[in-house]
Amino acid sequence: VSDLFLRACRRQAVERPPVWIMRQAGRYLPAYRALRERVDFLTLCKTPELAAEVTALPVATLGVDAAILFADILLPLEAMGARLIFAPGDGPTFPEPVRGAADRWRLRRPDVESSLGYVFAAVGEARRTLAGRVPLIGFAGAPWTLAAYLVEGGVSRQFAHLLAWSYSDPGGLRDLLDAIAEVTLDYLLGQVAAGAQALQIFDTWGGLLDAPRFRDLALPSLQRVLEGAAGEAPLIYFGQGNAHLLPVLRELPVAVLGVDWRQPLNEVRRAVGSGLVLQGNLDPAALLAPPPEIARHTAALLAAGAGGGHIANLGHGILPSTPVEHARAFVRAVQDAAPRPGA
Ligand code: CP3
Repeated sequence: VSDLFLRACRRQAVERPPVWIMRQAGRYLPAYRALRERVDFLTLCKTPELAAEVTALPVATLGVDAAILFADILLPLEAMGARLIFAPGDGPTFPEPVRGAADRWRLRRPDVESSLGYVFAAVGEARRTLAGRVPLIGFAGAPWTLAAYLVEGGVSRQFAHLLAWSYSDPGGLRDLLDAIAEVTLDYLLGQVAAGAQALQIFDTWGGLLDAPRFRDLALPSLQRVLEGAAGEAPLIYFGQGNAHLLPVLRELPVAVLGVDWRQPLNEVRRAVGSGLVLQGNLDPAALLAPPPEIARHTAALLAAGAGGGHIANLGHGILPSTPVEHARAFVRAVQDAAPRPGA
């Protein structure tokens, strides 16, 4: 039984940094790929016994210090009434994207217990499967990032629809973000009630905005989610490509700031001060290198993270082509590092 991860979130004394891996419950695992031969992605998410099984896989396979729930950030948008398809090969799509205020009638505020109860059941089932071995992280997308997928209709390069809307009708877009925020908060509180012990907010596309526009457009709905959940569990905010937002992010009511691989941890620490635990941020591509190289890069990561709270992780999701043995080398390199007195 280990609460190392939760202690690190709370800035309590730890004997070493805890380690887990973003997207650790996914396609780089042969057991996951074998399961996906039989079951499509959404069915996996909606079958609590299977979601719990996948949640626990990386704990058994890699020995990580935390589990993250197997689900997806887009599920609450489906619950709001947006048709969601995960077609093999081309990622998630919303065939009827919400492109402006006129499309808003298609969305509703769902009762999360009835529409997303399968996620809460998976949380409970995963807690039973994990049996206290490691804590369970729940998660959601930040409203801005969820809107990016809903407005574009799926994965995008330029986000032209989203950004056009943000300039032509910012008030209308803010209304959409507020509606998403309400559901997201219900969804996160439901996960905590079901047993989630920490919550990570993924803001994959927050970095698209400059700081004034981030404050104006993305921040109000994000704050609403964070403030609503703050007392319930330690919160982790993760974004990417957002070094220019650090002066804004340092004010967020979160315990942990997830850092992408582009920013040196010691520089981020200088920019945000000592109030936040930093999570990250090895380049996911570094896990494609031979294990001795991985050990070397991990030692450098631990050195950069020293001198303040640090949770070791990658700087974005693990790449599907990563050999399991390489992921294990990363986890071991953190866990076998010499203890740092007072770390
Ligand atoms: O292991 C885990 O982290 C737990 C579960 C998890 C998934 N998605 C499962 C998944 C988590 C935390 C996510 C977060 C997520 N989902 C994000 C934010 C993180 C990030 O990468 O920035 C985003 C943007 C999504 C939306 C999404 N889901 C996309 C764009 C895709 C397709 C491309 C991709 O990266 O896989 C998915 C599919 C998805 N979500 C898979 C998994 C395991 C692969 C599905 C499959 O089996 O084919």
